Amino acid sequence: MRKKIVAGNWKMNKTHSEALALIKEINQHTVNDEVQLIVIPPSIYVSEVVNLAASNNVRVGVQNSSQYDGGAYTGELSSAMIKSVGAQFVLVGHSERREYFKEKNADLALKVDQLINDDLTPIYCCGEVLEDREAGNHFNFVKSQIEEGLFHLDETAILKIVIAYEPVWAIGTGVTASSDQAQEMHHFIRTLLTDKYGNDVANAISILYGGSCKPNIAQELFANSDVDGGLIGGASLNAQDFIAIANSF
Ligand code: PGA
Repeated sequence: MRKKIVAGNWKMNKTHSEALALIKEINQHTVNDEVQLIVIPPSIYVSEVVNLAASNNVRVGVQNSSQYDGGAYTGELSSAMIKSVGAQFVLVGHSERREYFKEKNADLALKVDQLINDDLTPIYCCGEVLEDREAGNHFNFVKSQIEEGLFHLDETAILKIVIAYEPVWAIGTGVTASSDQAQEMHHFIRTLLTDKYGNDVANAISILYGGSCKPNIAQELFANSDVDGGLIGGASLNAQDFIAIANSF
């Protein structure tokens, strides 16, 4: 069975002391064994968070990585560097990276390759903007994100991927996708995976929902057969809300 995952993307929030306080508070709670909790702090805190999180079996991710191996790329983090501090997951193509830093599917495909080579798990983000949904173009849009970012991978490599569907109109807006909208798109993504890689592979890949996922809606979202957890932004900055979401399966 595929993994249930709840990952907290802290984005560019929290000072050093606030970040350490947050992971310590998360550590005080227990979460159902079936759920893998992941925290994704700003990279500058990752080493310390890895050490603190280990005591509670919480895994750690980073928010971005380079498509290059290493060398003269000021400001970038290579997958080897990320691995060397004990992080295991990396967000790839979050909509904020796509929008503000102009990341394209072709760049993201290269990042995915670097991460897989270093045995890290990419959490590949996709999702349409409101205009695409209103124009009825949301399925095609997400299809091209998945195909161009991931479909060069062979079967062994795609099995290392986690996918996060995050409709851009739901991120940080307080407007959550309805349970039906989430299930419909997750099912669509799984069907794309089935057509390309077959049933067994498609059924082994976790697809997370992200976009204003809060404790009061998580249970309804996670009850859908193709929703395997959540990528949580705002609500992951509060330990109690984050844990409540993780306990919503
Ligand atoms: P949000 O962010 O939960 O604050 O909407 C989700 C995300 O960007 O991953």
